Order: sequence, then structure tokens, then C-alpha cells
Amino acid sequence: MLPAPFKTSEEGTFGHYTATSRWPIIIQNAIDDLNAELESQTGDSKKQGEVIAAQLVELRGEVSGNTRLRPFTQQEMQVADVPQSFNEYLADTHHRDDSWFDAGWLFAEVYLYRRVNVLFKAQPLWRQFDIFNRLKQSTFHSSLHGVVELALRYENLRVQLEQVSTQRDDETLRILFKEFIDISLWGNATDLSLLTNATLEDIKSIQGAQARKNAESKIVIDDTASAWDTLLKARPGARVDFVLDNSGFELYADLMLAAFLIKANLAQSCVFHSKDIPYMVSDTMDKDFTTLLRDMQDPDFFPTQDKASRKALDLFAQDIQGFVKQGQLEFRENSFWTTHLDYWNLDPSETKYNGAQLHSDLLKSTLVIFKGDLNYRKLTGDRKWPRTTPWSEAIGPLADNGITLLSLRTCKADVQVGLPQGLDEKLSQLWEKDHPGQGSWWTSSGKWAVICFNSPR
Ligand code: F6P
Ligand code: MG
Repeated sequence: MLPAPFKTSEEGTFGHYTATSRWPIIIQNAIDDLNAELESQTGDSKKQGEVIAAQLVELRGEVSGNTRLRPFTQQEMQVADVPQSFNEYLADTHHRDDSWFDAGWLFAEVYLYRRVNVLFKAQPLWRQFDIFNRLKQSTFHSSLHGVVELALRYENLRVQLEQVSTQRDDETLRILFKEFIDISLWGNATDLSLLTNATLEDIKSIQGAQARKNAESKIVIDDTASAWDTLLKARPGARVDFVLDNSGFELYADLMLAAFLIKANLAQSCVFHSKDIPYMVSDTMDKDFTTLLRDMQDPDFFPTQDKASRKALDLFAQDIQGFVKQGQLEFRENSFWTTHLDYWNLDPSETKYNGAQLHSDLLKSTLVIFKGDLNYRKLTGDRKWPRTTPWSEAIGPLADNGITLLSLRTCKADVQVGLPQGLDEKLSQLWEKDHPGQGSWWTSSGKWAVICFNSPR
């Protein structure tokens, strides 16, 4: 029998803590940001915005009051294109009485962001408004140090990369591949839903080369070598897909990895899969990519201290724009990514919500990189697996339904698989020392990471 998914009712889990403590704060932050926005609004826009603000307050009350998770109304479904999957789930006899603090964690979290989105979609002048945009922008703005460091690194390597690749100096390329995988991996540590109170120093301390070096021992599973072998075999025709996670610094780091792959002739093209609604606070939508490119080239947004830094930033932005023009970098959004369906549904058998369609598209990819924590939860079904469960078992049908995948995750949730015997106990003891009663939360701290690969048999 399969283990059940984590529930928000399970005391002592990070999921329970998230639902009871973090969600109310996330909604309150959204209310505060909307109110700040409303100060500069007038007329209909102000009126409609005030309706949303009042409804967000109600929603916060629903969550804190642990009310039942109600189905979406027909009107909500229509106005906001809500996939039927939500109501189907809630109509199931097992879920009819689910409430905020007694529901599947994954479902309730995804449902929460959809409820927020519906409020905006119902007001004509606010349909496109991204309530998390201010937070996304301000954190990226604080990332100047890490952003410039990476741009300079890229500029230094850029010319050499082409040489190294022409000479087929694979040993050098392999070492650089590891470096860029780590850049993309630790880019995921800058997650706005966890970093709500981060200072500039906190952000610096997780974004630089030194930080990555210090963190190397924190990567508890590392299948980078298998991903490398896969790309080498497909060279030079590889297509690499990124199922994206957060915008801002993480997206910037993912673009670094993509640029490295393309410049080193390890990939012919990269496809970035983005979200269709504002989601999990910081997740990437197509418009965030446009904003990021603009911010990178805006000296007011990133007031670099010297000409060399400005030049490096501009150069990286131009390279990225060039890849887009050449069709080597493409963004695609799909509503599947913002349903509650886990990735066991990336399979020909899921014909209602684009699972089969995406599956057949991802079959054309040499390597599909799933970024971040939520994607890891969805790959493993967010189930209560013993932590030594083999990765290939925890990803269900994905183990052999044709997709070659790599998960780059800094650990921010309860679910964890693939560990060697004894490691969970050891790390739990270590975390317990500074966090009495919470040892098993080392997997939720964002301090450790995993790189997990699977290719179909
Ligand atoms: O675990 C906390 C959390 O907010 C989860 O709700 C979610 O899985 C995750 O963090 C988001 O992190 P990421 O942006 O890496 O997917
Ligand atoms: Mg995210």
C-alpha cells in the first residue's frame, strides 16, 4: 500500500506548522501589499481593489478559523478559468469534510493560491495584477551582490567556453557543469515564502561562490554525474527542459545554467516551463522573465559600483535575449503546473488536465530539470515515505514512463526519500541540538539539498 500524503493536521510536521503559522502571515502580507497599492489608486480601480482587500481578510479568517475547504462556485470557475480538478477532489467522499488544518498539505496549499487568484480575476481592472510582485522585485533588488558575482563569472568564462567545447576538453566542461548545477540548485534557497524577514546579509550569505563552496557537504544526494553522462551522449543536439520554480535570483541562476549549456554546446535548446497564475509567492510567470531582463539592464534597479559589473550584466542580458531570438530559449506556461495534481500524473493516463500532453512533450527532451521544493513534493506525491525509500519507487510511473529527469531541490518540506541507512537519524540528531523537539525538520530547513536523477529503464 502507498503511504498517505502529508496532512496539515499532523502535529509536529512542517506541513502543520506551515498551515497554522505561515499561511496566515502570507495572506496578511498580501493584504498589506494590496493596501499599500491602493493608496495610489482612484475611482473604479480603487473600489475594485477594496473589494479584493476585504475578501482577502475574509479568506484569512477562513484559514485561521479552520473552516471547511469549499468547492469553487460556477461563477468563480468561469471568471478565473479554475480547472475542474479542484472541485473533483473536494467532491470525493474522502475529502468532503476537509478543512484548512485537516486536509492534504499539498492540496490545501495549491487550493489557497487558487482562492487568492480567483479574487483578483473577478475584478476586471485587477485581473492581471500580481499580488506577489512587490515582494519578488524587492528580493531580487537585494540580490545585487550575487547577481553581479555570477555575471562576472559568466563573462570570464564565455569565450573560454566556446574554445573548451571545440577542443572537446570534457574534463574541464564536466567540472564547470557541476559548478553551474550548484548555482542553479542553491538559487532555490532564495525562496520568498521562507525568507519573509531576510536581511541583505542573509541573502548575501546564501548567494555567493563562497556560500556554495561551504554548502557542498550539505548536498546529501548527488546524481550530477548521471545527468552529465546523459548530456554527453546526446551532444550536441540535447534539449534541456526546466520545470521552473522561483523568479528573481533563482530564475537568474537557472538562466546561467541554460546559458552555460548552450554556450558549451551541451544543449541545443532550453525550454522553461512557467506558471500561469501568481503562485506560492515567488514562482515564475512569463512576465517575470521580461521584468528580470529589464531589471538587469536598469542601472537604477541595479546600481553597480563599477563599469565592469555593469558591462557583465548587460552582456548576460544580451546573450539571453539572443538565445530567445534564435529559438534556443523558450518559455511555455501550462495550467497543469498550478493544479494540485502530483507528477505521477505526467503520464499518458492523465487526459483531463494536460498531464498526457505534457508527458508527450517532455519525451522529446534529453533532460527535464525539476527545480525546487514544491516540484520535489509533487514528484514524490508528497507522501509519508520512509526516508530510505528508493527514489525510483517514490516517483512512481515517472521511473519508467520515458522521461529522463533531474530534481534540484533545497529541502524545505517533510517529504524526503533516497537517503542511505542511518543518515536521517544522524542529521535529525544534529538539527535537534539547536532546535529541540524538531530534529526531523532538518529536511524543512532549506539548509540541505538533494540532486536526484532518473532515466527510464
Ligand atoms: O515548505 C515550505 C514551502 O513554502 C512549501 O510550501 C513549498 O513546498 C515550498 O516551500 C516552496 O519552495 P520552492 O519555492 O522551493 O518550491
Ligand atoms: Mg516556489
